[in-house]
Amino acid sequence: MNRIIHISDLHFGRQVPDIVVHLMLWIDEYEPDLIVITGDITQRATTRQYRLAQTFLKQLNHPYLVVPGNHDISIHRLFRRFHHPWNRWRKMICSDLEPVFQTDQLFAGMINTVRLTGYRLNWSRGRVNKTQTERLIKRMADVPKTAVRIIAAHHPFWLPREEEHRHLVAGARDALPVFQAAGVDLILGGHIHTGFTHVEGGMIICHAGSTTSDRVKGSKTNSFNLISGDKNRLDIRRIQWDGTGFFSEAVKRFKRTAAGWAGK
Ligand SMILES: [Fe+2]
Ligand SMILES: [Fe+2]
Repeated sequence: MNRIIHISDLHFGRQVPDIVVHLMLWIDEYEPDLIVITGDITQRATTRQYRLAQTFLKQLNHPYLVVPGNHDISIHRLFRRFHHPWNRWRKMICSDLEPVFQTDQLFAGMINTVRLTGYRLNWSRGRVNKTQTERLIKRMADVPKTAVRIIAAHHPFWLPREEEHRHLVAGARDALPVFQAAGVDLILGGHIHTGFTHVEGGMIICHAGSTTSDRVKGSKTNSFNLISGDKNRLDIRRIQWDGTGFFSEAVKRFKRTAAGWAGK
């Protein structure tokens, strides 16, 4: 059985130290096979914030995969943004912008949806393109049929109605059927700082909130996900911060059917 922790939007520079301490305790207690980190690990992509994120990653005693979010490239230092946007990421966080992890029971592949510019004024909106989806599908070609297949990116491939103003990652509508045909089980994401699970095209889409930052508004809370199971059954528990500690919501159970995954 696989055990995965999904955290997101750490936003180092705006991290809440107490939450970081509690998160580390939960990680050590859960003993995950893999930690998936879906972007925005810094607040403003400064070198100081990259160092904080690097220190955090070095303290993880378990394998992890990390992918950038829109906050992880500079918005003020335009020379850096356009000429060497990923230098510090590659040196301090991960040499690969789209790393993968594989065991007999699990495949996880990251997609970098961050773009330096966009067609719209708001450059924080991401994109996934055909080259990226095809590369990932090729990497999955020799994954055993019994292994859980996970894709993770910063930007959302599906949104709850109340979050639709945040917009899907551009290219989502083309990418989802390709993922479905490739037997993808689970798509993990962040960006909107809201945790949810949803089944779309027989795949489970699961987001974590901002796990460790003070960038939470209204009824939103800091959160992360504990995911366990195999190709026939997956359990997802959202873990939320209540101001003094993390607590677990009721588990959400998903079962494989002939039409893909079912559950809420
Ligand atoms: Fe974020
Ligand atoms: Fe973001």
